[in-house]
Parts: sequence; C-alpha cells; structure tokens
Amino acid sequence: MTKVGIVVGSLRKESYSKKIAHNVASLFPEGYETEFIEIGNLPLYNEEYDADSPAEYTTFRNTVKGADAILFVTPEYNRSVPGVLKNALDVGSRPYGESVWDGKPAAIISQSISNLSGFGANHHLRQSLTFLNMPVVQQPEVYLANSQDLLDDNGKFKSDDTVQFLQGFVDTFVGLINKYQG
Ligand code: FNR
Repeated sequence: MTKVGIVVGSLRKESYSKKIAHNVASLFPEGYETEFIEIGNLPLYNEEYDADSPAEYTTFRNTVKGADAILFVTPEYNRSVPGVLKNALDVGSRPYGESVWDGKPAAIISQSISNLSGFGANHHLRQSLTFLNMPVVQQPEVYLANSQDLLDDNGKFKSDDTVQFLQGFVDTFVGLINKYQG
C-alpha cells in the first residue's frame, strides 16, 4: 500500500482547503491510502529544540517519514503560505541533515475565495519544496479560485469538470510517485 500524507495549510474547522483535500483524497486509485497530517499542534520552531525536541515534533516527523509522498492543500495568507504551514516545513526540515521531506514526491493545490486562487502561496510553497529536495508535480498546476462556489452544502465538488481536472492531476501525481518508488 502506498501512503500519501496530506498537509492542509488551514486550521479552520470549515476550511475550504480541508474540504477540497477530502475530495481529492477520494481520487487516488486502489493500492493507495491517504492520511491527514496534523500541523496545528506543533510549537513554533526553535533551533534550540533540535537537541531535545517536543513530543509533537517527533510524532509529526515520524508520520511524514512514514508517508511515501505528500499532498499540500493550502490557502494563501498575505500573498504567501500561512505561517502554520511554513512552521511545519521548518519543523520537518531539522535537525540539519535529517529532513523528513528529502526526496519525497509532492503535489500542491492552492485555493482562494477570490479570483487570484492562491498563486502567491502556491509559488512560495514550490520554492521551499525545491530547496527541500522534493520532486513536485509541475503540470498541471492547480490554482482553485472562488472555492466557496466550487463546493456544495455537503462539501463536495459541484461540477464534474472540477473532479475530472483534479483526477488528471492525481493521476499525474501517482505517475510521479511510481517513478520515485522505482
Ligand atoms: C486571507 N485570504 C487571502 N486570500 C487570497 O487570495 N490572498 C491573500 O493574500 C489572502 N490573505 C489572507 C490573510 C489572512 C490572514 C486570512 C485569514 C485570509 C482569504 C483566504 O483565501 C480565505 O480566508 C480562505 O477561505 C482561507 O482558506 P480556508 O481556511 O478556507 O482553507
């Protein structure tokens, strides 16, 4: 079984990112399982913790380590990624030389309640993942605009076109994961 960890950049209970992530999780083929990875409980990263890490860091790092690939679904805060997501990236990247992100295939979905679709967050995240040595799905890029209009009252995608587009994205991601699994 191939495990895809899902990291959501919003802690909000009714988060559109979270709802979108649940929709996308259901598009993975047989032989794949998904796991939502908690990031809201991680104390703010402090380099002094490298010697003696909080228990939440250890659990988080082990969970990421246990995943074969990571899907990021995030909103944009002030033209970048939410601080909670950047914190999670930083926590997973240390202690130096022990990054749990290293070499793991990844994919990015950004979303926004405006027309701009989280472009800034998507690209800032892409930049960090490049440095963290994560091969990232390049095409198709996924920028979801006006998220409130994409979902019905049950949090499901309203349109088959959206599902089809994201199915293609997931299929490409699966192809990338298979390539790295040899
Ligand atoms: C936002 N929002 C926002 N939207 C956007 O397109 N570009 C931006 O730079 C920002 N900046 C921003 C900052 C902060 C602090 C908040 C709280 C919100 C709006 C954002 O897209 C909207 O709140 C989403 O619904 C947040 O995603 P979740 O929580 O629904 O997943």
